[in-house]
Amino acid sequence: MTGVGSADSVGTAVRRLDGPLKVTGNARYAAEQPETEPLYAHLIQSTVARGRVSSIETAEAEAVEGVAGVLTRHNAPALASTEDPEMRVLQSDEVAYRGQIVAVVLAGSAHVATQAANLVRVEYAESEHDVELPDGDSSRLVDAGIDSDVDTGGVDEAWESAQARVDVTCTTPLEHNNPMEPHATVATWADGQLTLHDSTQGVHATRSAVEALFGLEHVRVISPYVGGGFGSKGLPHAPLVAAGLAAMAFPGRAVKVTVTRQQMFTLVGHRPATVQRLRLAADHSGRLVSLSHDIAVSASRVKDYVEQAGAPSGTMYASPQRRIRHRMAELDLPAPTWMRAPGECPGMFGLEVAVDELAEQCGMDPIDFRIRNEPETDPSSGLPFSSRNLLRCLQVGAERFGWGERSWRRGRGQHGIGVASAAFPAFQIPGSRARIVFTGERYRVEIGAADIGTGTWTALAQIAADALEVPLDDVDLRIGDTALPKASLAGGSSGLASWGGTVTEAAREFRDEHGKDPVDGAETTSKMPRNPDAGQYSMHAFGAQFAEVRVDADTGEIRVPRMLGVFAAGRIVNPRTARSQLVGGMIMGVSMALHEHSALDPRFGHVVNHDFAGYHIASNADVGDVEATWVDEHDPHVNSVGVKGIGEVGIVGAAPAIANAAYAATGVRVRDLPLTLDSFL
Ligand code: MOS
Repeated sequence: MTGVGSADSVGTAVRRLDGPLKVTGNARYAAEQPETEPLYAHLIQSTVARGRVSSIETAEAEAVEGVAGVLTRHNAPALASTEDPEMRVLQSDEVAYRGQIVAVVLAGSAHVATQAANLVRVEYAESEHDVELPDGDSSRLVDAGIDSDVDTGGVDEAWESAQARVDVTCTTPLEHNNPMEPHATVATWADGQLTLHDSTQGVHATRSAVEALFGLEHVRVISPYVGGGFGSKGLPHAPLVAAGLAAMAFPGRAVKVTVTRQQMFTLVGHRPATVQRLRLAADHSGRLVSLSHDIAVSASRVKDYVEQAGAPSGTMYASPQRRIRHRMAELDLPAPTWMRAPGECPGMFGLEVAVDELAEQCGMDPIDFRIRNEPETDPSSGLPFSSRNLLRCLQVGAERFGWGERSWRRGRGQHGIGVASAAFPAFQIPGSRARIVFTGERYRVEIGAADIGTGTWTALAQIAADALEVPLDDVDLRIGDTALPKASLAGGSSGLASWGGTVTEAAREFRDEHGKDPVDGAETTSKMPRNPDAGQYSMHAFGAQFAEVRVDADTGEIRVPRMLGVFAAGRIVNPRTARSQLVGGMIMGVSMALHEHSALDPRFGHVVNHDFAGYHIASNADVGDVEATWVDEHDPHVNSVGVKGIGEVGIVGAAPAIANAAYAATGVRVRDLPLTLDSFL
């Protein structure tokens, strides 16, 4: 056997173990799965936003050479469960949003499928639709039913009588998840078993959903390499259902469904729009006396999903009077879903812009204002924080970024610097299992975890190596397959905390059972240990975001030459992949601040700018000098590996830091995202 090493892999900047496979094209993504004579699917989407399909004519398409068939509600296999309106694909004639799948053309090539799709005639009986989020005072808003909504009863009185106060409305638009790899599924139905090569954030989560939907057992989901997800691959969506139905209609043939970039704007979720009214008030010393965050969010009639933008207002600042309220407008929109830091990200925009404004009202430096209002315990739960190093992040960041002069002019450039806080809950999802097998040479570590570009292949192997006390080379990690022990999904920044804790426990039990010198084939399976501190502490990663903005005095062009994020996120397993995650989040924050905006056409109910020509995301030229760093943090409560999760906290606070910097630069307060040049003219 190879030598037992020291536990020193965690904390080192190991290069991505999957990197060579990816850059040489040998990491196989879902759509690249080689199959013999697969069928290619073309999804036909509704052209009305609400109504029903009154007739559908497929004969002409079916006559095209190479077409295997056209699935519609008349001939599609029946699903076992039709409770979820997002997922009941081809089960009825009802149309609930524009772009809903109404037919699937299957052919021996993608070109033939697309050509034949043009010959399918669909007629609709159209109903009135509504896709526009009304403002926060509208009677069309209904209570969103969020348990954590609070009202201490005296916010209005406290606000009225306070020395300093702001009453502002901030808005964030609809946004769409756009991972580099669009969603894709290759489905095969053979010998009573459904096998899916799918681009997913969790093979087991996908399997559970598919088994319930189709009434099947033993569905296999395989997903070793995933080109991003940002939440939209956390649970399956309609295209996967189409793939499964088509596979069952053509037993033995693999069916490939590849979601196009344009379809990404309809079929796989989005971040809802928000209108946030913030009424904040402080006393003469700059202490908050009233905090009210009143949120209206867009919602869809096809999915129960509420963007919980009030979450940060529950955790960030102490205030004796607090009101957090979510209302929603149920609209004829496609299903929303998680998008990187759902809730926290848009909510922190409203809160941190309003806090910047109140600090100014108080005549206080924004960092001093935050220090003044640091809570001793979590205001939302009353629980102590497992660790909270927000102030250290602010102080370290101020020092490093240069928090002195906050605005200056250089030629036509009006420069300003701004700050905002970041926070995201440290989740750990119970129920994962891991198996360790000694193969005579190496330790095979098996867990159905996911690497969506986050670095799991590397960081989880590092945790396993240290837990087994062997060199990293002796670990052979296997993830991304339901044939492996069940694991939670890569969502809510919970992955490494959940799987790391599971693998660490498996290593401990393996050594207990088999010792330091195991025989070939020695094997142990164990599950994630319960955290005795769960529920006893409020657990969050924190951070401080700093941005420098330059606004052209003549054109209003806004640029972000410099950003610094300082985070407190527990133990950092791999500084290289961690930095990449945090910088990636901050860059997505630049995108949110300056570009991202899915523009709905209320007449037709669809997103007009449904491609990268119209929906802009930050590219290299938009991104200046972005630096992410962290403070040392040892949190004994958060979980057995001390990891808080870093996938999402990096985007939180980035957009308000940029908006606050733009204000410092120009004196123009922009409260609506994205910040565009016309606002500064
Ligand atoms: Mo993340 S938006 O929880 O996948």
